[in-house]
Amino acid sequence: MAWTAHTIIQNGRAIPFEDARIHPLSVGLAYGAAVFEGIRAYINPATGRLSVFRLEEHLIRLDQGIKFMRFDDPPSRDVLRQGVMDAIMANAPDDDCYIRLQVHIESRGSMATTGTVGWVCAAIPRERSTKRESGLAAGVSSWVRISDNTMPARIKATANYHAGRIATQQAKADGYDTPILLTREGKVSETAGACLFMVRDGVVITPARDSDILESVTRDTVLELARENGFTTQERRADRTELYVADEVFVCGTGQELLPVTSIDRLAVGDGKPGVITLRLQAAYESVVRGTTDAHAAWRTPVA
Ligand SMILES: Cc1ncc(COP(=O)(O)O)c(C=O)c1O
Repeated sequence: MAWTAHTIIQNGRAIPFEDARIHPLSVGLAYGAAVFEGIRAYINPATGRLSVFRLEEHLIRLDQGIKFMRFDDPPSRDVLRQGVMDAIMANAPDDDCYIRLQVHIESRGSMATTGTVGWVCAAIPRERSTKRESGLAAGVSSWVRISDNTMPARIKATANYHAGRIATQQAKADGYDTPILLTREGKVSETAGACLFMVRDGVVITPARDSDILESVTRDTVLELARENGFTTQERRADRTELYVADEVFVCGTGQELLPVTSIDRLAVGDGKPGVITLRLQAAYESVVRGTTDAHAAWRTPVA
């Protein structure tokens, strides 16, 4: 049964979901001074219990963003960890949930203002993609990926999603499900909201960390699962044309999970159906996030 979120945590206080407030002229909104994490918690089908997937890794990345943004007196990792747990427990979800944890500048001020810092944590239902089985139609975007010395993709800032949004809108206007973005040098980067993998001759390849990607928790998970499943992995720069000749392509991220890409620029990927290695990794991902395997128990934080 679909649950609804009725309570949100703002600056450590549980309040009705619709009552969360921030001033329209706050620096967080006016200049996009905000960093966030998208996290998922999954139900184990045998126990009916929820656990948060790779919570610590998300909290570490958020800390990196907070440091980079030079925020004054930010909430500690312990406070934010508790905020995630409180947001879930307050809503007593009976199904998987998606958690948005955001730290922003709450006060008004100039572009360079570094405080007052506020934070919010919401646990909400989120549908899974309808493209899990059929796969995505992707188009290589004419928009270029934001680069490290202008607007670093490594920092999960809300403002980065302006670039992702215009590429996504262009892709949809052109009839695709998702854009694939290239770096300024023309190498493959990622999509607007997920990392990208391809499979060539059985080797599982993903653009290297210096390809203007978000250092994705799911990407790291998939690399580990691929190695455990006996595949050779490569993190390296990748050419655009490799996308067209790859046997398989898929995207991954907390929100999108693991989705096959079945066409790029209207050219079929492989035989135009989700690839066998993609499906194997999708199944391995599903069992590790849900805890239907005992492997990687440390990746799952039980919700009390
Ligand atoms: C641009 C971008 N790349 C990659 C990802 C995947 O990151 P993660 O696996 O940590 O969710 C996301 C997820 O939000 C994203 O927005």
